[in-house]
Amino acid sequence: MRCFWKYAYFSDVADHSDDVFREILRSSRKNNQRSGVSGILVRDKNTYFQYLEGDKEALADCVLRISGDSRHNNMTVIFSAQTAALFFDGWSLAEAKLPQRKQNLSAFKRLLLGLPMEDRIAMVDEVCLEAKLLL
Ligand SMILES: Cc1cc2nc3c(=O)[nH]c(=O)nc-3n(C[C@H](O)[C@H](O)[C@H](O)COP(=O)(O)O)c2cc1C
Repeated sequence: MRCFWKYAYFSDVADHSDDVFREILRSSRKNNQRSGVSGILVRDKNTYFQYLEGDKEALADCVLRISGDSRHNNMTVIFSAQTAALFFDGWSLAEAKLPQRKQNLSAFKRLLLGLPMEDRIAMVDEVCLEAKLLL
């Protein structure tokens, strides 16, 4: 069975302009498509939540690029874990909305950080599946 990796984090928005957000989506989609990475990016006023998945090496390269980007700060990793299934295969980076009860991203972040790793992964899986239905 083929094995992939998945990665989720929150970060603080450093530049609130819509043009910056559009440019992040544009370059991310180009790069992710090339390297077979897929996922979602969610933004509220002050916070990003990103979920990414793909081959181990490609995902590690992607995360390295993202972590050096000054358009956000304070990356807080929720998990980095193996997975057998890709939720967003074919979506190089979808601009997603979370279900209503998780739309306050800093509250969602606090909730996840208070959970053991297995539960964090299960909750993000559940939210990603719901977010996919809203795309
Ligand atoms: C919140 C956020 C999410 C990002 N997500 C991705 C991503 O999924 N893939 C990616 O390649 N770059 C992503 N980036 C952009 C990278 O940090 C970097 O600017 C980009 O990969 C550089 O690509 P380029 O050299 O082709 O312009 C993200 C940046 C931010 C601030």
